This record gives sequence, structure tokens and C-alpha cells, in this order.
Amino acid sequence: MKVVVHIDEASRWRKALESAFPDATVVTSEAAANERQNADYLAVWQPPEWLLAEQTQLKGIINLGAGVDALLATPGLPAGVPIVKLRDAGMAEPMADYVLYGVLHFYRGFDDYARQQQGAHWHPRPLPDKAEWPVAILGLGAIGQQVAQALAGAGFPVCGWSRHAKHIEGVDCHHGEAGLNAVLGRARTLVTLLPDTAETRGLLDAGRLAQLPEGATLINPGRGALIDERALLDALGDGTAHGHLRGALLDVFTTEPLPAASPLWHHPRVAITPHVSAPTPLDGAIHQVIGYLRTFEAGDTPATVNPGAGY
Ligand code: GLV
Repeated sequence: MKVVVHIDEASRWRKALESAFPDATVVTSEAAANERQNADYLAVWQPPEWLLAEQTQLKGIINLGAGVDALLATPGLPAGVPIVKLRDAGMAEPMADYVLYGVLHFYRGFDDYARQQQGAHWHPRPLPDKAEWPVAILGLGAIGQQVAQALAGAGFPVCGWSRHAKHIEGVDCHHGEAGLNAVLGRARTLVTLLPDTAETRGLLDAGRLAQLPEGATLINPGRGALIDERALLDALGDGTAHGHLRGALLDVFTTEPLPAASPLWHHPRVAITPHVSAPTPLDGAIHQVIGYLRTFEAGDTPATVNPGAGY
């Protein structure tokens, strides 16, 4: 069995796979072309086009992340090769921490206090009751569910929306168009954790952002394509007084890295992080990767991604 690995710090992943499969050949994408070719499996995060195009006998591709949008959009992706992706694999906890930080940032008014500090202005805000701070989560997959439960555990009323009906303890779950309207109309903070698919792209356009209550806040650690960035900027106003929305914490963007010319860099009501909300942890993910390889090698197919649905 030959596996080619492509991800940051790929040699750590290579070593972990070599110890699990001592008879296998495991190389990183930096190996010479003749060492990379004729691989049975790719274990990759955002692989370059050439890495996919040069392979001729793949039995499976393991996406070393939760979202498969980048992989599915890579030209040269061979048709018909089963694709599997990481399902949580240790990303839910850092994601829950990131979102909890963001919710507290707005709930405790740290965005406002940062602006006050700039102006050497002292003006304490009343602390709202958590019961009056509903958080809505769009996307209740493996990660969204744990984020929802972490927020509920921190005392926030949590509602969630997903494509299909779900039942999650402590979370008011909705689905379908009517369900989306219901959760948007309620959210003091909206969290977007949907995959980037044909159905979700541009979901939060001007009309849907306008459905959020006046002064609502937005956290997007999911995918940039979910939100119309121009509409978001319009909804945030010019920064002096807030517009319909009070602020946004964004980890993902339509174009990454975020281009230097983007107005999002400098908007006083936008906080930015560089797609770091939930990096794939080797320790959390390696057992899942090993399990996938064993299943493939045993002649079975693990639960695969549906390229048509995009997740
Ligand atoms: C990160 O963005 C992931 O999809 O795992």
C-alpha cells in the first residue's frame, strides 16, 4: 500500500502512518515524483491540482479536514474515487471554544469596550441576562451539534437549523425554509457552521441578514461562501454607529487568504482570524485516518462523501 500525504507538517502525519502500517510506503507530497506516483491513497488537505492529476490508480482519498469544498473544486480530481472526510476527529472542541469566545465577546460587550478604549471613554454597559441572548447555529453536523451543546452548557438559549430534522438534547432544532426564518428572527448571535455546497452558497444574502434582529451579531467559522460579504458590510454600517448588525467575528472568507484590499480588514465592527478556528489535530484525527485505510484495505468502503451534495 502506498499513501501520499499533503497537509501542513506532513512529515508528522507520515511518521504516524508509518508506525501504524510498517509494511506500507508513506511519502509526503514533497517526495520525488517517482516516489509519489502510483499511490493507492491520498491523505490530503487542500491538495494542489498536480498531486491529484498525476495519480492513476487511487483506491481512495482521505480529506484531512471536515469541509470537502476545496477538494471537490480542485481540477484534476479523479471521478469515481471514493472520498472520505474527517468527521469531528477532535475539531469540535477547538471549534466550540472559538464560538464560545465569540459569543462572550459580544454578550459581554468586549467589542464596545475596545472602541471605548480607543476613545479613552468610560461607559459601562448593563449586563444582559443570558436568557435574553439566544444563539442560533446554522449547521448541526458533528461539529455544529457539539458547539450547540457547549453554548447551551454555558447557559445560552440555543436554537439550530439543519437541512434535515434533528433532535439534540437542550437545543431547539429547526429545519426547512420556515425553520430558517424562525431561527434568524430570534438570534442575538448567529453562528454559521454549514458546509459550502451549491445549496448553502450565498445563503446569508441581504434579505436574510435583514431578518436578524436589530443589533444582532454574527460569527462565521464555517465557510466564507455562506455569506454575501458586500451585504454583510452594508448591514454593519459605516462603523461610526452600527447598522442593522452590531458586529461580526469572521474566520473564513470568500477568498482566502483575505486579500489586502478587502474592506473587512479595516472595518471597526469586524474581528478577523485567519481560518484557524478548528485546525485538524493529528492526535484526534490519526485514528480515524488509520481506520479508513484499514477499511479500504479490507475491501470495504467507509462512509463516503457525496460529491453531488458537496459533503
Ligand atoms: C477546516 O476548515 C475544515 O474543514 O476542517
